[in-house]
Amino acid sequence: MSVLVAKDLTKTFLHPAKCELLKGASLTVDLGETVAIMGPSGVGKSTLLHILGTLDTPDSGSLEISNHNAIGEKGAFLRNQHIGFVFQNYNLLEEYSVLENILMPSRIGREWGHEERAKKLLKEVGLENHTHHLAKQLSGGEKQRAAIARALCNNPNLILADEPSGNLDEENSAKIHDILISTAKNLNKGLIVVTHNRELAKECDVVYTLHGGRLERL
Ligand SMILES: Nc1ncnc2c1ncn2[C@@H]1O[C@H](COP(=O)(O)OP(=O)(O)O)[C@@H](O)[C@H]1O
Ligand SMILES: [Mg+2]
Repeated sequence: MSVLVAKDLTKTFLHPAKCELLKGASLTVDLGETVAIMGPSGVGKSTLLHILGTLDTPDSGSLEISNHNAIGEKGAFLRNQHIGFVFQNYNLLEEYSVLENILMPSRIGREWGHEERAKKLLKEVGLENHTHHLAKQLSGGEKQRAAIARALCNNPNLILADEPSGNLDEENSAKIHDILISTAKNLNKGLIVVTHNRELAKECDVVYTLHGGRLERL
């Protein structure tokens, strides 16, 4: 079953200079499927991922997430309930504890019963001994594992990760890759990961490059 269907997405930035980034990008991701998107810097990968995650809107094209039209006013609801994001820079709230960070998306969704789930996720990413540490006290690899636990807290069907190991050494990168791939497989979620890491791409079911504003399957 498809968790994401994107067709012919286009996006042009007009300021500061006209920049036609997406010219008809299409892809479909099934539950349990892992997809890597590669391509040189500046080609529009983050822009595409933001559009797929309803953080930005395309100029044209269609996007369905979990069988809902994801363009327009439903975007915010879908984002909170159906999508988990992992960013290169972790984007944790540094002055809050690891547990508070992980519970943030469910608080935003006004759900209060997720504490047990958050603790279970912390255990799964190997951070059970860091539950009450402040985010700023964690190493880079630990921060990214906390960010993955946060992305999973609302039990989304789609995980989007933008260069999740871009700031990490080889050992920590490998851990992050394992967690992302095994989560998608074991919990039957769709994963789209933008990466320059060939090891990670090799582990994915499908690899695309973003080229000339379109996704080309390798
Ligand atoms: N909001 C924006 N307004 C104008 N230009 C943008 C905006 N966002 C990104 N860009 C430009 O689009 C290009 C592609 O950016 P990005 O999607 O971040 O590429 P990638 O992730 O592949 O490195 C860059 O040249 C960037 O400066
Ligand atoms: Mg980018």
